[in-house]
Amino acid sequence: QVFKLEDYRPSEFLIPETRLTFKLHPTRTLVQADLTIRTRSGGPSNAALVLDGDELQLRSLSINGTVLDAASYQATPDRLTINALPQADTFTVQIETEIAPENNKALSGLYRSSGNYTTQCEAEGFRRITYFLDRPDVLSVYTVRLEADASETPLLLSNGNPVESGSLADGQHYAVWHDPFPKPSYLFALVGGNLGVITDSFTTMSGREVELGIYVEHGKEARAAYAMDALKRSMRWDEEVFGLEYDLDVFNIVAVSDFNMGAMENKGLNIFNDKYVLADEVTATDADYAGIEAVIAHEYFHNWTGNRITCRDWFQLCLKEGLTVYRDHEFSADQRSRAVKRIAEVRGLRAQQFPEDQGPLAHPVRPRRYREINNFYTSTVYEKGSEVVRMIRTILGAADFRRGMDLYFERHDGDAATIEDFLKVFEDVSGRDLQQFALWYHQAGTPSVQVALRHDAAKREVTLHLEQALAPTPTESSKRLMHIPLQFGLVGPDGHDMAVHAADDSVEGDVIHLRKRQQTVRFTDVAERPVLSINRGFSAPIMLAMEQTAEDRMFLARHDSDLFARWQSMTTLATQALTQAYRTIRGGDTPVFDEALLALVGDTASDASLEPAYRALALSLPGEGDIAREIGQGIDPDAILGARNALVLAIASANADRFALIYEEMAASGAFSPDAASAGKRALRNVLLDYLSTPAGAVERAASQYERATNMTDRAAALAVLAHRQSGSPEAVAALADFEHRFRTEPLVMDKWFQIQATVPGAATVDAVRRLMRHEGFSIDNPNRVRSLVGAFAAANQTAFHAADGSGYTLFADAVIEVERRNPQVAARIATAFRSWRSLEPERQDKARQALVAISQHKDLSSDLRDIVERTLA
Ligand code: ARG
Ligand code: ZN
Repeated sequence: QVFKLEDYRPSEFLIPETRLTFKLHPTRTLVQADLTIRTRSGGPSNAALVLDGDELQLRSLSINGTVLDAASYQATPDRLTINALPQADTFTVQIETEIAPENNKALSGLYRSSGNYTTQCEAEGFRRITYFLDRPDVLSVYTVRLEADASETPLLLSNGNPVESGSLADGQHYAVWHDPFPKPSYLFALVGGNLGVITDSFTTMSGREVELGIYVEHGKEARAAYAMDALKRSMRWDEEVFGLEYDLDVFNIVAVSDFNMGAMENKGLNIFNDKYVLADEVTATDADYAGIEAVIAHEYFHNWTGNRITCRDWFQLCLKEGLTVYRDHEFSADQRSRAVKRIAEVRGLRAQQFPEDQGPLAHPVRPRRYREINNFYTSTVYEKGSEVVRMIRTILGAADFRRGMDLYFERHDGDAATIEDFLKVFEDVSGRDLQQFALWYHQAGTPSVQVALRHDAAKREVTLHLEQALAPTPTESSKRLMHIPLQFGLVGPDGHDMAVHAADDSVEGDVIHLRKRQQTVRFTDVAERPVLSINRGFSAPIMLAMEQTAEDRMFLARHDSDLFARWQSMTTLATQALTQAYRTIRGGDTPVFDEALLALVGDTASDASLEPAYRALALSLPGEGDIAREIGQGIDPDAILGARNALVLAIASANADRFALIYEEMAASGAFSPDAASAGKRALRNVLLDYLSTPAGAVERAASQYERATNMTDRAAALAVLAHRQSGSPEAVAALADFEHRFRTEPLVMDKWFQIQATVPGAATVDAVRRLMRHEGFSIDNPNRVRSLVGAFAAANQTAFHAADGSGYTLFADAVIEVERRNPQVAARIATAFRSWRSLEPERQDKARQALVAISQHKDLSSDLRDIVERTLA
């Protein structure tokens, strides 16, 4: 079944109030739903009431307290249709269903994780709990009563505020929760379990006290301290930056170890993958800490962008997700280094969203069609969605952007809104026309922009020629012209930005508004030829093709005042060198690299005026995927890895002495701290360790760092360097064995061990992964394990997944099916690793297609996996 945006109709029936009682039991949980139903029209309705279900079993059904006779309704696992309704505008429906949380391996609806009851209802999990109008525009006030065995399940949580609790007969107890804010069913949550907790409190800007709780496995309470700190910083930040205050008496977070995604913003009861809660220096890396900070903030920020204002339908998913990602990005930028954060975001966008946008799974930020909504929690909806919000801010400026956000909350609080509603507030506050800009929500694909600069010394004039293009995508053959905001500067010979005098109203301050196919912008009074720095801060998510000499790029890489653009110039130089080296290798020769590039990298590494985290990013060369995208077609992954390794080695050899010096200089003194500055030093030190360990036999430094490591960042980095650069060496083997021995009882840490081994370059890793799938620490039921081993293998190991003999595809296809039998959502997600198969050289293409076809021919394939595989093959 295909769902279409234009088919949206408001619901004939509303559910102003929902009263739920759960009698929790592992295999026989009884769910009693008492729904107040009201007609939209205000008068009696002739329509049947059709409620959504999914694998449900009806036990009893009453209306206004009277049991319904069998002729008045039809119940199937996925639908409850009630034909005989009272002739009234309001009535109540009582529904009893029975479910088995223990047997729910799809981790959608009510399920058990490590003996605890937990829920995941977004997008359509609530219908696996009870029959309901399971759509985001049906908002209801929930009162939830939970009953369970008091000793086995002492903790009973749901949304909103606690109302009462007490004991019952037979060792049972109960708790009642009430959430005064009307919400869609996807924001419902409950937790029943036996967990440890850390508590704290937060005083909001208007002086209200909020009790905060983070629930984790017993014994891991200390590892939740950083998450609590991040939560309080998030609450303060949203007040300071957006004027948004928390609105309930309690805010609870529960960490669970079996979770399909990162986390979920259920009202007042966020449920998290424990990977995004638990951290201490021995078990978590700096990247883990940063991930916790970002996800805690993201879910908290959803309280306003998602919960107080929700989505009319799932086509509007980016309304809450793109906006909330934008907000968590800004939060992290304020908490850490803005330039470093921006570069990391762009690297992520290019690695994940660009291939999606340029491949068979391309879709607009606001899709118009879906078969399975769970497959649209994509980096296009999330990350490109965030870029679109960022562009609105760039176009309007900070002040009007904030006024627009204020108006959005004022106008739409309590609504299930649309992208049109969102754009309208910015048009209203600024008086601007955002019609053309809105195409960013509606058209798929990554626009490309060509730029050339001419300087006329006699006329003292600069002209910029800009041209935009957007290639067709699978479901859109013709494209309209976009409104592309390009931040820019003209850099003078002294390295400083010149004052610009634009003779064109397409320029506003430091932004060029590209709206036509071709545009020429003139600048007067320019005596000397400037160097153009454009798309500063990555103001638009485009591919830029600029006519620019290597000398000019070198100049920008050393002088651009915009740190993002400076990093970009160096990255572009490296990318050009790498594609050149790829062609050389394909031609059977050995690549050589420009000394000036090698020196530029070395100089940047030792430039003490730049923060270490920035220098670390500057040293991180484009990934294999980035290089593949630059080359385009006929990809040979082995030659890409060869080119990249050759450049790493050339940079390392040219700069060996100073790299060794900086490596020592960045050594930490004193106690561990996860703050951004300390993490930056570790990042620089560890990227240098990778360079220094690339020459054959250079194992000593990494082996010694591994042994002496007192934190997981340094330990995991040393392990990865040994395993990837000196694979098979006694030192690598010993470190892997040591790590396993130290952490075998810590699943989240073992994920790093699985992932490092799954990403060892080369076809031999196919067998290693097959072996590791039988390791006692692996579980096909646990999404984190599956992603660390099978997912990482396919998504982050080009030379093994795309092994020339096709063995990587076969292994992966088998694993995907094995996962799919239990958990279709996770299987569909990892299967997207096939999305770039058409860019491969012909023999690999053929083998990849065969693997995809093999998956598609499985009987009873879930709609989740079928959707991904069929679109990938189409
Ligand atoms: N709304 C959640 C977040 O952005 C994601 C939940 C999606 N879950 C799913 N099964 N599709 O944090
Ligand atoms: Zn979200």
